[in-house]
Amino acid sequence: MIVDTGNYDVIIERGALENAGRYIHNVTGSCRCLVSTDTNVSPLYLHALEKSLMSSGLDVAKAFVFDAGEESKNLEVLKKLLVHMADEGLTRSDIVIALGGGVTGDLTGFASSVYLRGIRFVQIPTTMLAAVDSSVGGKTAVDLGSYKNTVGAFHEPALVLCDPDTLKTLSEEQMACGMAEAIKMGYICDSKLLDLMKSSCNRDEIIETVIERCVNDKAEIVSEDFRDNGIRQKLNLGHTVGHAVEALSDFSVLHGMAVASGMALITKAAANRGYCEPEIYDDMTDILKKYGLDPYLYLRYSPEEISGAAMHDKKKRGGMITIVIPTGYGNSRLLTIQATELIDFIRDGFDNGNDSE
Ligand SMILES: NC(=O)c1ccc[n+]([C@@H]2O[C@H](COP(=O)([O-])OP(=O)(O)OC[C@H]3O[C@@H](n4cnc5c(N)ncnc54)[C@H](O)[C@@H]3O)[C@@H](O)[C@H]2O)c1
Ligand SMILES: [Zn+2]
Repeated sequence: MIVDTGNYDVIIERGALENAGRYIHNVTGSCRCLVSTDTNVSPLYLHALEKSLMSSGLDVAKAFVFDAGEESKNLEVLKKLLVHMADEGLTRSDIVIALGGGVTGDLTGFASSVYLRGIRFVQIPTTMLAAVDSSVGGKTAVDLGSYKNTVGAFHEPALVLCDPDTLKTLSEEQMACGMAEAIKMGYICDSKLLDLMKSSCNRDEIIETVIERCVNDKAEIVSEDFRDNGIRQKLNLGHTVGHAVEALSDFSVLHGMAVASGMALITKAAANRGYCEPEIYDDMTDILKKYGLDPYLYLRYSPEEISGAAMHDKKKRGGMITIVIPTGYGNSRLLTIQATELIDFIRDGFDNGNDSE
């Protein structure tokens, strides 16, 4: 299936990796291409990709392989990638291909946005998180020390090629993290996606449809607010608390896991404050558990710790902070509050929060 985002296509197809060369050539024509990937993904999929690129007549440069993990999403690795691109003689008409998860996509996308003032790049997401979220929307960045995604650019890919078969090698935890972002999308704007995820007995059977719906939803939101000044902020549902939980755990809690519990906390608070029915929260915790996510993980920390950590969030603008709250099943709204009020909001989420017993 193909999702047309307006500026580029997202192709979601089992086995697409084998046909990557043909799909990419259709978009770029003859050119030199350089694959950027990490040390986990390279032994799994780099060979198949390069073979397909070559068989389609594309000129393949030496791949750039960096150490897997968020620690590589920094200016030093970015510089190495840029030097490698120059050493390999990439010109304005050539392309870079990001083969991997969100780290690879963000790093490689940003490199392509600044190299020779911007060249084209292709995303081949190989994590569920990258497939449903980070590969679409044109946000690219690296971290600046502990300041996440602080140096970056808006730079849309020329093509996104998603082969769901590549997700088979993901760990259960990584898969669950991607599912958390998909459930997030359901609560932001897609009740049909929630229905599907709630009713399905076989995760593997619904993966393509889940990816397709998320890509469609995200593309629609992004097309209304590319530069993230309004409705695009809805994509942060669960993220204010989620980022705080990630930071408090010294990043031992994975992003998707933290976001899942952040969503549960904010939804509990929203229900307690009358913004949504209590059933919305009950449904949400059921779906999260079904996909291997712990809604109550935030209980490891106090409301004071969470709001303290959330205050460092870059989403704070002036003295105000915008949070996203579900208002129904597949509906949400933005709520801008004084940053000082966040602690009360979070306390309301803790009220009866430990109904896990
Ligand atoms: N640009 C955006 O819009 C956007 C949106 C959300 C998240 N992000 C960013 O995405 C990053 C997180 O993405 P992620 O969770 O994909 O992280 P990741 O890229 O680090 O991938 C997670 C792990 O899975 C491994 N992996 C990747 N594909 C695999 C496969 N098919 N089989 C086995 N292992 C595989 C990776 O090597 C890594 O160890 C963060 O840096 C976050 O800031 C960006
Ligand atoms: Zn996220």
